[in-house]
Amino acid sequence: MATKILVTGGTGYIGSHTVVELQNAGYEVVIIDNLSNSNIEVLDGIEAITGRRPDFVKGDVTDMGTLRKLFEEHADIKGIINFAASKAVGESVQKPLLYYRNNLVSLLNLLELMPEFGVKGIVFSSSCTVYGEPDVNPIDETAPYKPATSPYGNTKQISEEIITDFVHAGAPVKSVILRYFNPVGAHPSALIGELPNGVPNNLVPYLTQTAAGIRKELTVFGNDYDTPDGSCVRDFIDVVDLAKAHVTAMHRMLENDSTDPVEIFNIGTGRGLSVLELIDSFQRATGVKVPYKIGARREGDIEKIWAEPTKANTVLGWKAEVPVDDTMRNAWAWQCRLAEKK
Ligand code: NAD
Ligand code: UFG
Repeated sequence: MATKILVTGGTGYIGSHTVVELQNAGYEVVIIDNLSNSNIEVLDGIEAITGRRPDFVKGDVTDMGTLRKLFEEHADIKGIINFAASKAVGESVQKPLLYYRNNLVSLLNLLELMPEFGVKGIVFSSSCTVYGEPDVNPIDETAPYKPATSPYGNTKQISEEIITDFVHAGAPVKSVILRYFNPVGAHPSALIGELPNGVPNNLVPYLTQTAAGIRKELTVFGNDYDTPDGSCVRDFIDVVDLAKAHVTAMHRMLENDSTDPVEIFNIGTGRGLSVLELIDSFQRATGVKVPYKIGARREGDIEKIWAEPTKANTVLGWKAEVPVDDTMRNAWAWQCRLAEKK
């Protein structure tokens, strides 16, 4: 019988791509999502790609009653992947309590119910934001936390600590914490991708919307950083590669008894790419020009960060594979599909 996995936030950007990879790997999936930042039609995309529609519960992970009912109805859930969270850094500064409540209460609820319902493990979505501005690049998992620069970033540090404390207190659960670098792109089918919500803050959705003529021009936030071309450097990780890391993590956690009860992995390519290099890649891959200008630095931006992914490569057996030009082509195909749907 297929192993059943609960995916919270499973209709969201990274969640939907992960559900596809889980189903492709033979797992059975139940999604819970309150649709606060996603759309029910995502299920059609998942079904069209995999031939299978995952079970879906519309509900809030901060609501203990809803969760308890879900676990009673799906008593055979063996693992959880917890994507459900609010993720807009700027908004978290304006509405800190909303972020602390949503991101922390949801995690506490899940952890509290896991032993009662015999759920063995939880994969948690963390972020390279826990490292702040690195002292060295590439950065590995042993680097200490830097003070969080936003309530959002703080929820990721606190969540990692909550999980670690719980497991070290002897709770009969395991956890794999994945620190994502910068997830970008879309499924190559262009049937699922990132849903823009208002004016995008992130680079790639802003870039594709500019290429599509929805935005007049892209502003590159600063070209006077201490980097080869002066623009910021990031580790852009393809969302399908990222999704596959969750499948590997789940398999390791559930099937391998000898692993540490809490493991932390960087999920990145190991390659730093500048903002200007990413724009070049987009133009090369798609043949579409992106009007852009150089603007002032954005407050709070990290100058450069990229992952040391060796632990994920060797211990987890996962490696980023999609070339960045393909990622940009997929991001563009998804943008074109969104335009068609309008
Ligand atoms: P997303 O907003 O697309 O997906 C999150 C999903 O969770 C949405 O569908 C939303 O409706 C749902 N949700 C939010 N709160 C909920 C709640 N209380 N109950 C039920 N559903 C709820 O975001 P994403 O980009 O897919 O991110 C997924 C996870 O990865 C988040 O935890 C995020 O913090 C983390 N992360 C994202 C990035 C990134 O750049 N996208 C980077 C690092 C970490
Ligand atoms: N950028 C521009 N112009 C834009 C948008 C972004 O030049 O219009 C630049 C930024 O200055 C930055 C780079 O593109 O140098 C990447 O910016 P993003 O906003 O796409 O991503 P960040 O690295 O700032 O942050 C992302 C997520 C955070 C998460 C962090 C680490 O937005 O939630 O990665 O995982 F915490």
